[in-house]
Amino acid sequence: MSKSYGHDEYVALINKELSKRLYEVKDGQTLITDAMRYSLENGGKRVRPVLTLEFCRVCGADALQALSFACAVEMIHTYSLIHDDLPCMDNDDFRRGKPSCHKQFGEEYALLAGDGLLTLAFETALSCDERTDKANVIKAVKLLSHLAGVSGMVGGQVLDLQSEGTSPTLEKLQTIDRLKTGALIKASVLLGLFAANETDDAKLKAAEEYAECIGVAFQIRDDILDITSDSETLGKPVGSDVKNDKITYVSLMGIDKAKKEVDRLTEKAIKSLEAFDEDVSFLKDFALKLAKRNK
Ligand code: IPE
Ligand code: IPE
Ligand code: MG
Ligand code: MG
Ligand code: MG
Repeated sequence: MSKSYGHDEYVALINKELSKRLYEVKDGQTLITDAMRYSLENGGKRVRPVLTLEFCRVCGADALQALSFACAVEMIHTYSLIHDDLPCMDNDDFRRGKPSCHKQFGEEYALLAGDGLLTLAFETALSCDERTDKANVIKAVKLLSHLAGVSGMVGGQVLDLQSEGTSPTLEKLQTIDRLKTGALIKASVLLGLFAANETDDAKLKAAEEYAECIGVAFQIRDDILDITSDSETLGKPVGSDVKNDKITYVSLMGIDKAKKEVDRLTEKAIKSLEAFDEDVSFLKDFALKLAKRNK
């Protein structure tokens, strides 16, 4: 059985490794690394990298074997938040409890900080633990680029923008959430399995199901908090969706039904964990905690 870690232990390990991977540059362009560091080291729940590490562990490998992949997904996530906040996107001035990257550094540097983090993610993923087979490194990077790009997160953001001011069906909304948020969560989970050199199809399928369920549940909970929370707790503005005329689960079906959908998806995610032989209580509790999270 591989060593278990607590949630806070994981977060500390991730934060330390992220700082290490964001190296300084030599030719005077420090403003960009300052902007990248500002957003990357600025808190954040680290949901995605924690999933990568724990899924690696439940496959029987050392969780730290997945640390490079975990950092890579968090870099891509952070870049997506920087760009998501830009005036041409959601136009939000506050993120992770501080002024958004473009408020602090200006739009041009926020744009470039996002570009810098996206590309650093692939550099980081490729300089990974030697215990992961090269074939699995290639599989991981291929999947990460697919799910972060137009077939995944970027595509979801496009559909999200296009849906502003319209009345999409529930099916369309599910597609948007599956792509803009679910895709990167799926990559986070599956990269944990690839880091561990997992080949069991049943486990890969189960992990995918867990990720798909918590991915959409995570976005629905985000939409709920956008209405019910306050910006101090969230560290980002509330009411962003109404401001931008977004259709969300909450606007479509109301808060109660949206909460029930989060619970239903969470139960389904937990059920899928039966495919693993190692102790899955961390992943079970994590799904339950995410469903009830307040920030
Ligand atoms: C926010 O993600 C964007 C969504 C996909 C809903 P998180 O809620 O994980 O944001 P941080 O990383 O904790 O700031
Ligand atoms: C963001 O969804 C999804 C991303 C890919 C960044 P939101 O626009 O709802 O995320 P927040 O609420 O700004 O964090
Ligand atoms: Mg958005
Ligand atoms: Mg937003
Ligand atoms: Mg939101």
